[in-house]
Amino acid sequence: MERKAGYVVGEVDTGSFIFVSDLDTYPPRHEYLVIPQVRERVGDEIKHVDVLAQVDKISNYSDILGQGLSLDELEALISRYTATTKVYGTAKVLGYLNNRDEVLMPRSAAVPGQEVFVAPSELLIRFFTKNKGRGIPVGGLITRDEVRVQIDPNGFRKHVAVIAQTGAGKSYLVGLILENLLPLGATVIVLDPNSDYVKMKRTGDDQPTEIADDVVIYRPPGIKGRRYSDEDIGGTDSYTIDFSKLTDNQILEVAGISSGWVNIRAAITDALKGLEGIYGPKQLVDRLNQMAIAEEDSKKREAAGSAANYIRRLVSYSVWGSQNIPIDDLVKPKHMSVIDLAGLQRNVSQYIVQKTLDDVWNLAVTGGLQFPIFVVLEEAHNFAPGMQSMSRSSCQEIIEKIAAEGRKFGIFLLVVTQRPGKISSNVLSQCNSQIIMRLTNPEDMSAVRRSSEGLSEDLFNDLPGLNKGEAVVVGELTKIPTMIKISGRTSGEGGNDIDLDEALSRALEEYNRNKKLELEKAEIKEPKSRW
Ligand SMILES: Nc1ncnc2c1ncn2[C@@H]1O[C@H](COP(=O)(O)OP(=O)(O)OP(=O)(O)O)[C@@H](O)[C@H]1O
Ligand SMILES: [Mg+2]
Repeated sequence: MERKAGYVVGEVDTGSFIFVSDLDTYPPRHEYLVIPQVRERVGDEIKHVDVLAQVDKISNYSDILGQGLSLDELEALISRYTATTKVYGTAKVLGYLNNRDEVLMPRSAAVPGQEVFVAPSELLIRFFTKNKGRGIPVGGLITRDEVRVQIDPNGFRKHVAVIAQTGAGKSYLVGLILENLLPLGATVIVLDPNSDYVKMKRTGDDQPTEIADDVVIYRPPGIKGRRYSDEDIGGTDSYTIDFSKLTDNQILEVAGISSGWVNIRAAITDALKGLEGIYGPKQLVDRLNQMAIAEEDSKKREAAGSAANYIRRLVSYSVWGSQNIPIDDLVKPKHMSVIDLAGLQRNVSQYIVQKTLDDVWNLAVTGGLQFPIFVVLEEAHNFAPGMQSMSRSSCQEIIEKIAAEGRKFGIFLLVVTQRPGKISSNVLSQCNSQIIMRLTNPEDMSAVRRSSEGLSEDLFNDLPGLNKGEAVVVGELTKIPTMIKISGRTSGEGGNDIDLDEALSRALEEYNRNKKLELEKAEIKEPKSRW
C-alpha cells in the first residue's frame, strides 16, 4: 500500500467514514483512499476486502484556539503555547472490487482504528477502466493524472448526453471520443451547426489524421465567410437540397410558416399542385404570384400574395440543388460523416437534421441497418427544444422518436448541449449515460439533476467548481461515477476559442498601419509649408 493518510475514527457506516490525519499527511479533497482488509460478510462467509473511498471534506480544528476567544486572549495564547492543529476528513465509500473486477458496495462497515491509505494507482486503474481491451482513452483522473481512464464503448448503447456551459470543453471531448470510436469500426454521423468537427481529418499541426481516409466532410457550396476553406480541412463533398422533393409540410417548416396560418398554407399547397418535375423556390413564388392575380376569391388572392412573400426569402438560400447526401454512404461501417450546417438558416438546418435522421430511421426500422450507428447532435437544444416551443417540429419529433426507440434498432445518440434546461426532457431523460462538465446556471443544473439518476448530491455540488476540460462521467460508460481531466486529442478543432489577446494585437497593428498610411497620403497631398 502507498502513503498512510490516517485512521478511521468515530461512528462508521457502509457509505462514509471519518478519519483523523495530520497537517503533513492529510489527503486533499477528491483524493482516493483505501481501507485495506475490511471484514465483509458475504452470505455466511466473512471476506476481507479493500474498500475504496474518496475524500469529501477536510477540516482543521483546534480545542485551544476556539471561536469564543477575544483577539487579546488569542494573541496571549498563541504567544505562550504551540497549539496543535487537529486534522480530520470525511470520505464517501465508492465500493470494492470482486474477483471479476466488478465494483460492489460493501454491506459491512470498517472498524474505528483501521488504517486509511492513499489509494495506489494500480487499484484506481482497475476501478476506473471499463472494458480494458477496447476502452476509449479520455484522459486521467482529476486528482491523479497518471491513472488513465478508458470509457466503455458499450456505454453508448444507452444514449449519451454531454452537458456543460459554453467553453467547458464539450466539443473537444466529443472529438476525442469520435477519433477513438471510429477505429473500433463505428459508423458516425455528426450534425455540426458550428463547424466544430470539420477538422477531424487534420491534426492540430495540420497533418492528416490516422482516421482521415474514413472521414467525409459534407458542406453546401456557396456559403460565404467560412472559418476554414475546403482545402484547409483536407477536402469536402458537396451537398444540396432538392427543393422539388420537399413535401408541403417541409416547405412550410423551412419557410417558417406557422401551422395556424391556414389560408397561407392552403395557397402553398394549391400552388405546389401546379408544379411538376424539378423546380426551386423561384418557380413556386412565380406560381403564387400568378395566383395572387388570377384567383377569383379575394381572400385566396391575398393569401397567395402573403405566401409568395414568405417563399421569396428562400430563393436566395444557397442550399438548393440536386446533390443529396447518399444514405448508403452515411451508414457504411467504420465511416464518419460530418454534416457541416454552419452558415445555413436555422429552419434549413433543422430540415437537414430531420431528413438525415428520417432516412436513417426508415432504413433501421426496415432492417436495412447492418451496423450500429452513432449520431452526434451538437447544440441539441436548438433541434429539440423543450416546452418553450409552440409546436413540435418534425425535427424534434424524429429526435424524440430516436431517443425513445432508436437503440432497439441500433441508432445511438450523443446529444451535446449547453442548455440542458432548454432541451426536450423526452430526449434528455433517455440519455442514461452522461458526461457533465462545468455548469453554473441554476436552471440548467436542476434539469441535469432531474434527468441524471447516477449523479449523487456530492458530484452535483461539484459541477460549478469544475475547470475547463474536467468532467464527471456517470452511467454505463464507467463502472462508477468518475471525475476526469480530459486530454489526448489529436484531431484539429474547428471551433476552438480564439486567442483574443493575439487577435487584438493584430487588430491594433492593422489600425496603426492604416493610420500611418493615411498620414503618409495626407502628407503627399498637402506638401508641407516651407515655413
Ligand atoms: N481537455 C482540454 N484540454 C485542453 N484544451 C481544452 C480542453 N477542452 C477544451 N479545451 C479548449 O477550450 C476551448 C473550448 O472548448 P470547446 O469548444 O470544446 O467548448 P464547448 O463546451 O464545446 O463550448 P460551446 O458550448 O461554446 O460549443 C477550446 O479552445 C478548446 O481547445
Ligand atoms: Mg462546442
